[in-house]
Amino acid sequence: MLRQPLKILATACTILALIFNVYIFTYPSLFPFQCSWRCKGSQVRADLQDFSLAEKTLYYAKQYGLDVLSQWKRQKGEEALDSRDIHMLALGDPQIKGNWQNTPLIKRLDTFGNDYYLGHIFSMMRTRLNPQFVAVMGDLFSSQWIGDSEFFNRTARLTSRVLKRNPAWLYDIRNGSKDMNGQYQVDWVSFADDLPEHMSKTPIDFQFGYENVYAWNPVEDDYLLINITGNHDVGYSGDATFQHMARFQELFGKDNYWIEYDADTEHAWRIVVLNSLLLEGPALQDEFLDITWEFLYQLFERRFNGSTVLLTHVPFYKEEGICVDGPYFSYYPEDYPREPYKANLLRSQNHLSQGVTKRVLNLIFDNEKPGVILTGHDHEGCETFYNKDPKTAEWFASKKPQLSNYYIKEITVKSMMGEFNGNAGLLTGHFNVLHKRWEWSFSLCPFSIQHIWWFTKVITILSGIFLSLLVVL
Ligand SMILES: *[C@@H]1O[C@H](CO)[C@@H](O)[C@H](O)[C@H]1NC(C)=O
Ligand SMILES: *[C@@H]1O[C@H](CO)[C@@H](O)[C@H](O)[C@H]1NC(C)=O
Repeated sequence: MLRQPLKILATACTILALIFNVYIFTYPSLFPFQCSWRCKGSQVRADLQDFSLAEKTLYYAKQYGLDVLSQWKRQKGEEALDSRDIHMLALGDPQIKGNWQNTPLIKRLDTFGNDYYLGHIFSMMRTRLNPQFVAVMGDLFSSQWIGDSEFFNRTARLTSRVLKRNPAWLYDIRNGSKDMNGQYQVDWVSFADDLPEHMSKTPIDFQFGYENVYAWNPVEDDYLLINITGNHDVGYSGDATFQHMARFQELFGKDNYWIEYDADTEHAWRIVVLNSLLLEGPALQDEFLDITWEFLYQLFERRFNGSTVLLTHVPFYKEEGICVDGPYFSYYPEDYPREPYKANLLRSQNHLSQGVTKRVLNLIFDNEKPGVILTGHDHEGCETFYNKDPKTAEWFASKKPQLSNYYIKEITVKSMMGEFNGNAGLLTGHFNVLHKRWEWSFSLCPFSIQHIWWFTKVITILSGIFLSLLVVL
């Protein structure tokens, strides 16, 4: 008697599960233009204005089908990509959360699932696009107010669940640096002791620079992973302590560095990773600001003659109305009993200040070669142009480029969080041989809100259960 309804239920669930699984495993094919590297001679999008609904549906269905097919062929190695281009995947603000002792079960489940939701986006992009560079745009975690053990645990989750990397080396670090309970504890005292005290007196070699690095560990990786500091990882400059910086550097690497590629050729270019949290204050530890500025001066002194991709977390100054976030600074109050040592320090900022923006742009883009800036922080995403006035050497932001001037495009990468539809940013660099210059283009590949992913997982499990019940009963 139960068999008939169970059969209907199993069939319905299985059909739904199939549809949704096909969707989540082929979603980039629905947006083949946004979800592919920009390549030479790539098709222009057709103008569908005069199409009827049926024609449009047919057009999109065909486009989807062709893309699925070409992906399948590519994975079988039948279609090679133009390997001279630069392909960088940019992941905006994942902000993975954590659990506290009193976190309810349903929230724990949500946090757990969210890791795999983000991991799904990364795996899809990686398989489809084969990026040479993967940059996580800062705010890897959701809070700067966590202890070392929690920081470690989230790093391990990000490594294994989101980025699908082997976290074994993390546990080695923990074995060498733990507290009485065996939990990770960073040795920030040694870190602080190693910091030079009198920056201005002797030029110090911080080893900020690299050359032609395509993987930190070429045996294990076929792409270069770039971690960028966000305010939730190390804090704003009023929060950032030795502890914050020591553990970030131990588990995620340097916060400021450059990598030059093919220097002294006509197609030279470089990546600049900048910790924009530690450029202005009032800061808790002024030495951090000194180091960041020292980095920028040393970078400037390179007199690099190529194009620049600047990767940083906090966007540059722009007036209200250009992006979702307008200019905003806040400071700890004079009277702050909870943490009195933070009185008047920088508490948060939406952008860099106007003065710092000008100084940084002048130090990095002084050669007036084409370049591009990727940032995170505001979650909503935005594209802005920084135009340099040739007479006054002032930079001003606008929504459209001022073609007569030298300008740099800043892309605020939309967040990969579910609330923002799980975006991935695709930056393509193409060297135009005719004009002897790099051309940068960017697109956003959207997935969908996390509920769709959740639904797919749940319905798949349900259909599995119903189908096995049918067999058993
Ligand atoms: C981190 O993970 C370890 C091992 O799972 C656990 O014992 C520890 O309590 C976690 N730390 C925090 C702060 O939850
Ligand atoms: C970036 O962070 C990951 C941990 O998720 C780590 O495996 C990798 O080595 C880090 N990169 C650098 C340059 O340290």
